[in-house]
Amino acid sequence: MRKLLITGANGQLGRELQTILSTGRAPIGAIDASWTGVEVVATDVDELDITNARAVDDFVAAGGFDAIVNCAAATNVDGCETNREFAQLLNADAAANLARAAAEADAVLAHVSTDYVLAGTDPMPQAEDAPVAPNTAYGETKLAGERAVAELAPKHFICRTAWLYGTEGKNFVRTMVGLGRTHEQITVVCDQHGSPTFAGDLAWEILALLGTENYGLYHVTANGATTWDIFARRIMANAGLGCEVLPVTTEEYAAKNPASAPRPLWSILDNKRLRDTIGDKMRSWDVALDEFMRTVEL
Ligand SMILES: NC(=O)c1ccc[n+]([C@@H]2O[C@H](COP(=O)([O-])OP(=O)(O)OC[C@H]3O[C@@H](n4cnc5c(N)ncnc54)[C@H](OP(=O)(O)O)[C@@H]3O)[C@@H](O)[C@H]2O)c1
Repeated sequence: MRKLLITGANGQLGRELQTILSTGRAPIGAIDASWTGVEVVATDVDELDITNARAVDDFVAAGGFDAIVNCAAATNVDGCETNREFAQLLNADAAANLARAAAEADAVLAHVSTDYVLAGTDPMPQAEDAPVAPNTAYGETKLAGERAVAELAPKHFICRTAWLYGTEGKNFVRTMVGLGRTHEQITVVCDQHGSPTFAGDLAWEILALLGTENYGLYHVTANGATTWDIFARRIMANAGLGCEVLPVTTEEYAAKNPASAPRPLWSILDNKRLRDTIGDKMRSWDVALDEFMRTVEL
């Protein structure tokens, strides 16, 4: 690997990727020595708007990249519901643009997807061969993106993750700390299950996969699972905040927030393919969260 392109580099995942590439390590451990000296070109929408097919073709053709990591996406689930056209453009059409350009340049494309491509109704951890059945605009357009990448880029990694948080940007951990500082009591949904995942851990696994030719679809989430209210209580405890977290069901929440898109009740992904190939180094969600909150100023 000599040259790597990151798209959507100012987002949560993009920033963690840049951090571990520049420092050589993530909380999981050091990245492989082969990344030393790799030229990293980090772009966000101002430098490379991935919805512009011509711009993507030109940038990738001129760049001489060995690999591309696409961290850009329309990640606002409710926003995707109200602006489906934008979601389609960024989550699906732009992924196809990158896939075509990567194939043309013989570069590897690492693309990131989501648990929302699944139905979210099965309590069992879902491996990569679980049937897809999205029921939101976000999930549908992300699935279309996955399919475009799989079809158009022979050398691809698709990494599905969930409940992502990172050092920068808007995420559940920051939101809870903010609410905890201003409220004595909040209500948080108690019957949706998933695995809060630190973006730095995901970034580490993406770089590890890029060191192989085991192309294909991977589930990459933290190990273990929880619910949003338990996650919130742990955030409050870590931040030393006395804010009480009261449980509310999805049904009760939806009744009070009728414009909100449906959320999956069961979003536990099984990192089976990682385990079967390069090994699963993802940490347990609580261990990763505790370390994140010890080391990051929120
Ligand atoms: N966040 C989650 O909980 C979660 C869960 C499951 C899966 N994922 C997936 O994980 C990946 C990374 O998510 P994230 O949370 O790191 O995303 P994020 O923080 O929302 O970052 C996305 C980045 O893409 C940029 N962007 C927007 N339009 C663009 C364009 N046309 N061209 C280039 N860049 C553009 C955004 O810029 P602006 O901010 O200026 O728009 C932002 O910097 C995504 O594929 C997402 O679907 C996320």
